[in-house]
Amino acid sequence: MSMHLRARCAFAVVMTIAPLSIGAQATADSTGMVVSRNGLVISSSSIASDVGASILRKGGNAVDAAVATAFALAVTYPGAGNIGGGGFMVIRLKNGTATTIDYRERAPLASTRTMYLDSTGHINRSLTATGYLAPGVPGTVRGLALAHRRFGKLPWRDVVLPAAQLASRGFALDSGLARSLAREVAQAMKSYPASVAAYGKRDGSAWQAGDTLVLADLGRTLNAIATRGADVFYTGWIADSIAADMHRNGGLITKKDLAAYRARERAPIRGRYNGYDIVTMPPPSSGGVAMVEMLNILSHFDLEKQGRWSPETLHLMIEAMRRAYVDRARYLGDPDFVKMPLTRLTSSSYAATLASQIDRTHATSSIELGKDIVTPSSVATESDETTQFSIVDKDGNAVSNTFTLEGGYGSHVVVRGAGFLLNNEMGDFNKKPGDTNAQGDIGTPANLIDPGKRMLSSMTPTIVARNGRLFMVTGSPGGRTIINTVMEVVLNATGFGMNAREAVDAPRLHHQWLPDVATFERDAVADSTVSRLRAMGHTVEQRGRQGDAHTIIFDAKTKTAYGANDRRSSDSKAARP
Ligand code: GLY
Repeated sequence: MSMHLRARCAFAVVMTIAPLSIGAQATADSTGMVVSRNGLVISSSSIASDVGASILRKGGNAVDAAVATAFALAVTYPGAGNIGGGGFMVIRLKNGTATTIDYRERAPLASTRTMYLDSTGHINRSLTATGYLAPGVPGTVRGLALAHRRFGKLPWRDVVLPAAQLASRGFALDSGLARSLAREVAQAMKSYPASVAAYGKRDGSAWQAGDTLVLADLGRTLNAIATRGADVFYTGWIADSIAADMHRNGGLITKKDLAAYRARERAPIRGRYNGYDIVTMPPPSSGGVAMVEMLNILSHFDLEKQGRWSPETLHLMIEAMRRAYVDRARYLGDPDFVKMPLTRLTSSSYAATLASQIDRTHATSSIELGKDIVTPSSVATESDETTQFSIVDKDGNAVSNTFTLEGGYGSHVVVRGAGFLLNNEMGDFNKKPGDTNAQGDIGTPANLIDPGKRMLSSMTPTIVARNGRLFMVTGSPGGRTIINTVMEVVLNATGFGMNAREAVDAPRLHHQWLPDVATFERDAVADSTVSRLRAMGHTVEQRGRQGDAHTIIFDAKTKTAYGANDRRSSDSKAARP
C-alpha cells in the first residue's frame, strides 16, 4: 500500500469515531482525542484553552481565539506564556491563504557582540540565565495586536479583557504550578523583590494546590492593553516602567528600543511531503527551513516499507536531522540582517544531493560534515520552556502559535509596578563569535548579536493542508528539539497515517548535529534497535520527555476537528466552544 493510501485509510478510521463524540463534553473520547465541529483550542493550560473556546463561542474566529488564549497563558502559564517575551504565529485562512506573524524579541540598541563574554573570553552564562541583561525587547503584545488587526473579528478589548479579569480576580493553582512557583520564588526569583512580590505567597509560605493566585499589577497592565491598545506597552506608562526598571538595575532596554519595536508579517516557508502541503515559520526561526529540509531528504526513501521504528528508518531520520541542523548553524539568522539561501535549502534538488550522500549503513561524522565551521574547543544550553497552542474555528481557519520567555519564567525579573515577567531570550544568540564546538555552542556569523537584531529561534508552528484544505495544526516547545518534534509529528501523520493521538503520543527522537548524540525518549525503541544503530556508528542515549506538541487534525469534508493534547504536560487541555 502506498503511503498516500495508507494515510487516507487511517483518516477514514478517524472519521468513524466522530458521531460518537459530537455533542459530548470537551473531554477526550475513547481514542484519546477531543472531537468538535464548532472549533477547538488546545494549549498547555486548561483555563487558557477555555478562554480561547469562549471567544469562539462568542463568534470570534481562530485569530481572536488565539489572541485571547495567548493573553490568558500570560496569566495562567507564567513559565512560558507571556507578554514580556516573543514568538511566532502561523495563520491559515479557510480560503487557503496563509501568512505568519513574527513577534520575536530584538536585541536592545546598546547590545554588543561580546556582551556575554568575561575577561577571559568565556561565555558568562549567568548573564543570559537571569537578571536585567538577559531580556530582548519584548514582541508579544505588538505581535498579537498585528494578528488581530489583520484578521480578528471581535473587538480587541473583548479578546484581551478575559485575561485581565483572570489576573485581577485570581485563579486556583494546580499542583504542578503550585510546586513550580514555590520553587522559583524560593530560588531564582529571590534576588528580584518585584518578582517575589508578584509571585510569592503573601504570608511567605510555599504555594499549595488549590491556593488562589491573584496578579493585581498584571491585571492592571492587561486592562490597560485591553482598553488602550498595544501602544500603552511600547510608548505609554508600561514602556516607562520597563525602561525605569532597566535603568535602575543595569539593563539595556530603553524607551527608544520599545518605541522602535515592530512585529512583522512574513511569507511562510512552504514544503511538500507525500502529497501534503506544509506551511511553517520562516527566519528568524530556523524551524520551518530545517523541518522542510529534513522532510525533503526523507522523501527520497521508502520509509513506509522500512517501517516507522526500524533501525533503517531511524538511521535516515538521524542523518536528515544532522544535515538540516548543520545548515541551521551555517546559514540562519534574522532576515533583516543576513542573506540566507532559503530557496536552495528548501529545494528538492538540494535534498536530492544530500540524500544521495547518506550512507545507508553508517553514521556520518558530524564534525566532518561541518568542518568548515567547527572550531576545536562549555556546554551549550537552550531551554525547553516555551509553549504551543493550536486552534481551528468552525469555518476551518487555523492558527498555530508558539511563544516563549526562553527559560522557564524567563529572566525571572518582574517589571516593577507592571507585574509581568521579562524574557531571557538574548541567550538564543551566538554569544561567542567563531566558537562552534562539539558541545553544541554555535559561533557562526548569521546569529551573532547586533543592535536591533532578532535572535535565531527553533520554534516551528506549522499548519499542513491536503488538496487545498486544512489537514493539521501543530507545534511544540523544547529549545533545539522543537524542530525534530514537529517534524516527527508531521511525519507520523502524513507519512504513516497516524491519527492526531497516535502522532502526538509516538516516542520522539532528537539529533541536532552537535553534540553528535541521538536521544530517544525513555524506552522508546527496542534494545536490539539501539544496538543496531550503535553498530552503524551512532551514539545513542535516552532522555526524558521531548516536547509538548498540542495537535489538531481536521477533516475538511465534515469540518470536524480531532484534537490531541500532548499528555507529556500535566495541565494541557483541548477545549471546545
Ligand atoms: N527560546 C526557544 C526558541 O526560540 O527556540
